[in-house]
Amino acid sequence: MIGLAAELSAIAAAAFAAEGYSESLGQVVASDRPDLAQFQCNGALPAAKIAKTNPRLIAEKIASRLRENSVFAKVEVAGPGFININVADEVLAARGAVLAADGRLGAPEIGRGKTVIIDFGGPNVAKPMHVGHLRSSIIGDCLQRLFRADGWKVVSDVHLGDWGLQMGQLITEIKARGTAPLYFDADYGGPYPELSPVTMEDLEEFYPAASAACKTDPKRLEEARLATAELQAGRPGYRALWQHFVNVSEQGLTREFASLGVRFDEWKGEASADPFIAPMIEKLKTKGLAEMSEGALVVPVAEEGDKKEIPPLLLVKSDGAVLYGTTDLATIVSRIEAHNPDLILYVVDQRQHSHFEQVFRAARKAGLAGRATLEHAGFGTMNGLDGKPFKTRAGGVMKLYDLIAMATEEAAKRLNEAGLAADYPEEERAAIARMVGVSAIKFADLSNHRTSDYIFDLSRFTRFEGKTGPYLQYAAVRIQSILRKATSEGFASAPPVVFSPEERRLLLQILALPEAMETAETKRAPNVLCDYVFALAQEFSRFYSEHHILSEKNSGLQAARLGMCELTLKAIGRVLGILGIDIPARM
Ligand code: ARG
Repeated sequence: MIGLAAELSAIAAAAFAAEGYSESLGQVVASDRPDLAQFQCNGALPAAKIAKTNPRLIAEKIASRLRENSVFAKVEVAGPGFININVADEVLAARGAVLAADGRLGAPEIGRGKTVIIDFGGPNVAKPMHVGHLRSSIIGDCLQRLFRADGWKVVSDVHLGDWGLQMGQLITEIKARGTAPLYFDADYGGPYPELSPVTMEDLEEFYPAASAACKTDPKRLEEARLATAELQAGRPGYRALWQHFVNVSEQGLTREFASLGVRFDEWKGEASADPFIAPMIEKLKTKGLAEMSEGALVVPVAEEGDKKEIPPLLLVKSDGAVLYGTTDLATIVSRIEAHNPDLILYVVDQRQHSHFEQVFRAARKAGLAGRATLEHAGFGTMNGLDGKPFKTRAGGVMKLYDLIAMATEEAAKRLNEAGLAADYPEEERAAIARMVGVSAIKFADLSNHRTSDYIFDLSRFTRFEGKTGPYLQYAAVRIQSILRKATSEGFASAPPVVFSPEERRLLLQILALPEAMETAETKRAPNVLCDYVFALAQEFSRFYSEHHILSEKNSGLQAARLGMCELTLKAIGRVLGILGIDIPARM
């Protein structure tokens, strides 16, 4: 659906064109002084610069053209030449009815005919997911929901970390422990057992041990390097062992992602790019883009005008092993081949920015990316109350599972304090606490601008007042309950009408939904949706406290207000759905 501001912009653009100016000057946006007007258009100022005349003069001409259109209730010129605009109440009501009937629930159709691959999550096999992966999962999942809503064909890929040194470290750890000797027997030709010789718990114990051993013992590190190279070169026992690691990890990860309500279309990993690596390297060599440097094969990617040094992308180490950058580059090749996307979006920690810069440059130089735009949507760090990257109390990495359990517990406490869900069956109460806990984590993460760091403060995130996920869930539940009561009383609803300032403001906010979705998408900025839905809930609150609804005697008025409740709930539900937040049936 096209938003109200966009509709007004089209009208203003025509007015500018009729006065001989560029249509692009007609952009109408929500006013930054809502006390003065609903919308504003500032195009007269740049127009005056070009025409070398007084901006107020131009603004007056545009304004008088706009006044001829009955869409507007007020058009005024203010200050040096701003045009302040109010829309007629009937127009707001009519647009409300259009939104209520819109099958796409207010979504702009930006993505029609376009394909995006969203690379997010990115946990590493055998290593626990940490908070960086949590942020990637929450933001990436929100973006996949948003892009899908806006009409894109979305392919989400978890891109497991499964081809690096940690694989060799694990293999040597298992060798050192003698856990599964069969896989190390060079004379054994297979087949290898179906059943994994290691469990998830084993892996969780083995990896830290292996990584510690490699830190203190250079011989172990060398062994791990060699094992990694042999694995990549295809040593059968190592490949079989690796497959077990991946299978076991995937099971655990699927469960963790499910508890967060996050799903992926593809469960590929670094290793999936393996078949694409050799031909890609050939191509890079033939094109003269890859060269030897200190025994390694690299692609220089420095460009003229670089402010800081961008080192070459390392493709193959002297021992023959490939690296993170190699698999990322080859993954681009495989993605282009499989999906021919318009955009590949990487939702990965900001600190990997130069890695992606190297990969993207190499891809562009070699023409590997087809028509796709490659974009890194980075994010900041989640810190603990001490301002340092978030850790458990014992100083370890917090596992996602434990984090959700912690949030659920805190949410249960808050529900008790607020006297919510008190007399519900145990099971329902637990389910609600979980929904509230997850929403607290997600909303807190998404409401900060993606690139800023923020402090993880569960007691603040789980509050039912203020800008939190639980507050918004509660707002939605309250509207649901009004509507349920209305139904049980047999009250009818009708399209919303504007009689009061609160109704006007609420409806205006509802109608800003398409623009909020568009801005959030183009800026890859879920916080725009968080701001939108919080403002919406606040406007609803004002409307609700100023008007009788269930107790309204005039049935026409009551029906229109119930219609307003329905539309508000639709808009809140739409946005919370994109944020990945569930709404309990009651609370
Ligand atoms: N596994 C990586 C990590 O833990 C994240 C992967 C991100 N995606 C990518 N295509 N590099 O840091």
